[in-house]
Amino acid sequence: MRTRPVGADELDLFVEATGSPDHRKEVRQYLQSMFATGSMRPEWCFVTQEEEDRPLGRVAFWTLPGMEEPFALVLLDVPWGGDYMGVGTPLLGDVLNEARRLGAKEIEHVLDAPPMQPQFQHHPEKRVELLESIGFAFRRETGRFEWRGEKPNTEPGRLSFRTLEEVGDEAFVDAMRRVSEGTLDREIREEREKLGPREAAREFFEDAQRVKHEPSWWRLAYSKPEGDLVGLVMPAEPPAFLTIFYVGVVPEMRGRGYVDDLLAAGTATLLAARAKGGNKKPLRADTDVANAAMAAAFERAGWARFAGRREYSVDLTSDGA
Ligand SMILES: CC(C)(COP(=O)(O)OP(=O)(O)OC[C@H]1O[C@@H](n2cnc3c(N)ncnc32)[C@H](O)[C@@H]1OP(=O)(O)O)[C@@H](O)C(=O)NCCC(=O)NCCS
Repeated sequence: MRTRPVGADELDLFVEATGSPDHRKEVRQYLQSMFATGSMRPEWCFVTQEEEDRPLGRVAFWTLPGMEEPFALVLLDVPWGGDYMGVGTPLLGDVLNEARRLGAKEIEHVLDAPPMQPQFQHHPEKRVELLESIGFAFRRETGRFEWRGEKPNTEPGRLSFRTLEEVGDEAFVDAMRRVSEGTLDREIREEREKLGPREAAREFFEDAQRVKHEPSWWRLAYSKPEGDLVGLVMPAEPPAFLTIFYVGVVPEMRGRGYVDDLLAAGTATLLAARAKGGNKKPLRADTDVANAAMAAAFERAGWARFAGRREYSVDLTSDGA
């Protein structure tokens, strides 16, 4: 059995590798849109096969547009009804070695339930067994929300807004530090503990900068008439959808429903961007299942929970994987 990247002229081999024939259209469309945005490349699509036979398994790298090293595994499929460990273990071992060679320090893989396009992740228990056997560890679980409303809630006018361009990067990073205090989001909390609040906010800002957005979409909000900082909202446009990348309220202003005002403003920004772009991208956002206040706020604002996502990651800097 041998793992190899497929050539640009062999993509059908990857698309048809294992998944059900019903899903090929969705996988093909997903690949085309990811190639177009730079999140995937044909040479990042791998199959494993015995001699020249039909592939037994497949997986691909995904990354944020603009990044040179892989960030996550997508479209993982091996014979889930058969020898999934025997095929999956060498396949993942080989691609993680390749990811390390390309400079990745960590690789993520997410499992969405219920199974949905384009990954159709049936057999979740077997997937987890395979991932954990190769060194992946559970990181956090999020609820996934989608905007299903007609019109965003009216922003009640309690706040005055200033854009990133108006306040500058330093003030914005400092506001990210303040709103992240006491967060119930596991990933943000762990980054704060690891790097310290200031550095964690700076890295979070830099990560966000890599996701497509207009600087005018990112806004700080202030109380009226005092002009005290209340919070922030950061709408953004990843390759496949539009999202609220981050929203937060400073600790001393929490419990007054300001998150509703910020979400109304952010949702309106995304809807306007979608109308201007003339596309049909869905509006989607994730929040840690532990962050009940945030999940409740999404639902009040017209965002419906449509799925759950479990995030796994593997550290490539140690010898474990
Ligand atoms: C999640 C968050 C945006 C909610 O903002 P908010 O404007 O305080 O929201 P609400 O006014 O609806 O209050 C939410 C809950 O927090 C509680 N709360 C009140 N005062 C609080 C305080 N000082 N500190 C923390 N929570 C408080 C409220 O009682 C309310 O609970 P309830 O639903 O049981 O009544 C805010 O807590 C926050 O910024 N957290 C850190 C950043 C974060 O996690 N962002 C989301 C990541 S995707």
